[in-house]
Amino acid sequence: MSLDRRFCVAPMMRYTDMHERFFLRLISKKAVLYTEMISTGALIHGNCDYQLDFNKEEHPVAVQFGGSSPQELSQCSIKAEKKGYDEINLNIGCPSERVQKGNFGVCLMLEPDLVAECASKMRNSVDIPVTIKCRTGVDDNDDYEFLKSFISTVKDSGVKTFIIHARKGILKGLSPRQNRNIPPLNYQKVYSIKDDFPELEIIINGGIKTISEAKNHLTYVDGVMLGRAAYDDPFMLSDIDSEIYSNTKVEISRKDLLTEYLNYVHLMTQKGYDPKIMLKHVFGLKKGEKDAKRFRVKVAEIMNSSSLVKNKDDLLSMV
Ligand SMILES: Cc1cc2nc3c(=O)[nH]c(=O)nc-3n(C[C@H](O)[C@H](O)[C@H](O)COP(=O)(O)O)c2cc1C
Repeated sequence: MSLDRRFCVAPMMRYTDMHERFFLRLISKKAVLYTEMISTGALIHGNCDYQLDFNKEEHPVAVQFGGSSPQELSQCSIKAEKKGYDEINLNIGCPSERVQKGNFGVCLMLEPDLVAECASKMRNSVDIPVTIKCRTGVDDNDDYEFLKSFISTVKDSGVKTFIIHARKGILKGLSPRQNRNIPPLNYQKVYSIKDDFPELEIIINGGIKTISEAKNHLTYVDGVMLGRAAYDDPFMLSDIDSEIYSNTKVEISRKDLLTEYLNYVHLMTQKGYDPKIMLKHVFGLKKGEKDAKRFRVKVAEIMNSSSLVKNKDDLLSMV
């Protein structure tokens, strides 16, 4: 499958699990979906099948790895390709202390040769694309030349696609959440990377909230990636296939969508998955509508009750 990354939904720990991705796929057939980050250590020493599990409906779907050992990343890439993922993304953007301790995430922007070696080993192990998600810089290494030199070194490994979160990461003193809000966005740097490396596919990320903002970015770069805005307002994805990919608009109603998703939740609950974890993804379904709050309260109520079946019709009557 060739991937059309004009619109991507960002990897988000504890959010973009297989259930969220199934839900989003009911809304957009085209958006490229990313898993939560999986560390190579967790995959190699943990339950690999469980961590890599996904629904066949989720394609196109990319798995994101965090790690810095070329051998381990290669080993994990082989497993991911066997499982059927369409892309492997390497996380060079996470600033959390835990991730820094493992020597991966954004601190690797300071070691471009190692990133290139990891990417090269991964690419040599699989046929699916290997992509990089990074930031514009790290700590005081935040001028354009630093970013350009990082991209230039890593691209020599053969990586063709870079997803760039348009703000730098700060290693000490900011939580991951603050690191997503405090360092200022600088979209121009990402546009300049596209100008300087026209042969690369450049996806811009960070602070993009609407389809019209996404379309504006697409006049400068090849794709956009949305995280929080897509999670908080999943129904916005119902315009992506027509507005971004120029497909004929297929009308879907929130009711049909929720009906289908609740059927899925029911089925997956029988297989042993926790319904609470699956239900939280529908919180934002009515975002922007006048009874959005009432809907959220109802979802929370159902999450705390023991029976989805009993409450299903109540919830459906609200959409
Ligand atoms: C709750 C949460 C978890 C995240 N987890 C990851 C992750 O696992 N891997 C990653 O590369 N980025 C992660 N991110 C960062 C997002 O992928 C994205 O780069 C960031 O939120 C900026 O995009 P946005 O402004 O569209 O949300 C996370 C963000 C949030 C809000």
